[in-house]
Amino acid sequence: MGEELAVDGGAAAAGGASHRLWPIVEAEEKAAVVEVLERGILSGSNAPAAQAFEEAFATSVGAKHALLAHSGTSALQLGLAAAGVNAGDEVIIPAYSFVATAMAPLLRGALPIFVDVRPDTGNLDPSLLEAALSDRTRAIMPVHVHGCPADLEAICAFAEAHGLVVVEDAAQAHLATHGDRPVGAIGLTGGFSLQSSKNLGCGEGGVFVTNDDEAFRHANRIRNFGQDVAPSDAPLDAHRPLDGGAMVSSFVGGMYRGNEMTAAFARAQLAKLPARTAACQKNAGWLSDRLGELPGVLPPVVPDGRTSAHHKFRVRFDLGQAGVEDVSPRAFRDALVTALRAEGLEVVYWQTDILPGHPLFAERLTRGEGWPVPESLLPRLSQNYDPARYPVARDLLEGSVVLFSQSCPLIAQSRETVGLYAEAFTKVWANRERIRDRARRG
Ligand SMILES: Cc1ncc(COP(=O)(O)O)c(C=O)c1O
Repeated sequence: MGEELAVDGGAAAAGGASHRLWPIVEAEEKAAVVEVLERGILSGSNAPAAQAFEEAFATSVGAKHALLAHSGTSALQLGLAAAGVNAGDEVIIPAYSFVATAMAPLLRGALPIFVDVRPDTGNLDPSLLEAALSDRTRAIMPVHVHGCPADLEAICAFAEAHGLVVVEDAAQAHLATHGDRPVGAIGLTGGFSLQSSKNLGCGEGGVFVTNDDEAFRHANRIRNFGQDVAPSDAPLDAHRPLDGGAMVSSFVGGMYRGNEMTAAFARAQLAKLPARTAACQKNAGWLSDRLGELPGVLPPVVPDGRTSAHHKFRVRFDLGQAGVEDVSPRAFRDALVTALRAEGLEVVYWQTDILPGHPLFAERLTRGEGWPVPESLLPRLSQNYDPARYPVARDLLEGSVVLFSQSCPLIAQSRETVGLYAEAFTKVWANRERIRDRARRG
């Protein structure tokens, strides 16, 4: 039974935890932004801070090219556009992700088609790809969810065998590796997010990456109103930075560029990312070992040959192994969240529903509402957008909690704080029958 739970009036095991807020803004980021302001060039397709960041980012993820975009969602749209995904195409994506994974194809006029995920990592299950194919399938967009690389070997092999392209949603996976390569540009193209909660958190922003020269050129056009902007080595007139350059559109493009302050801030953060990632991985490994000793607790899985950025730390539970079967996982999860929070931990759901469960998919698009979907495709969407077809993704969400939060992620925390998470979780787990009883009472 152990000590009394804080939720029942006992002392909070992690009451003294000092959580560090994210993102961490230090002198280097401030100086970098001030330098931009003093230079007076705040934007532009070839602006200096953006170019310096793009070069540094490309190097850090082993890509030939990188382009700063104003969000991860726009970086993914550039990735799809550069990979030749157009209106009417289908893009296969996992049923579990942030909704931007599904929005990016939609905003290009393409349709996301869901497949279920693997129970251990939450990543797209490659064994289900075949059944999701149609003659409109053009791309697969795996997500390296929580920062753990998807099975790119199997996914890229499948794509090659079927004439498809792979666009990586690496929004959460800065510096994660698959084999000996960082993720992002292992597929034809990829997109990262720089939104504040990410391991490289810079306000709002995104980065498109590729090793392919033509994909890079095309992404750069789409980023700039469909125009062939001056090549990146063309000198910028520092006194007239807003003048010059092409103004002729040959493609449908938008304005997806980032701005100079974000670029400078991001570059200063990027210099710190390898050390932060290594410390985060060490803490994640340590915490996983502690939690893995508890019966029925399943810490994050990182398959052999891959490293995770541990952007999110999702802990699954198996109520059978834990000896508390006679309760619904969902009710147990909710009671567990309440108990862990009472002990002083940051705990979130992150997503409360799988992607096909969002009303946009489950209710509206299947009826042809809210977005122009050809009527002939509605039966396919009714089938594919039925949430009941994705039991693994649903069970993952109902049978797990995410330790740490967007505001206080693992990457920001000290070893001492992570130690308190192990202590508090262990205490709560020793009382899991109490949690089960609370869950049953509702
Ligand atoms: C998996 C995933 N894809 C895409 C995005 C979109 O990134 P952004 O919010 O920068 O547009 C996010 C960000 O939350 C994400 O987690």
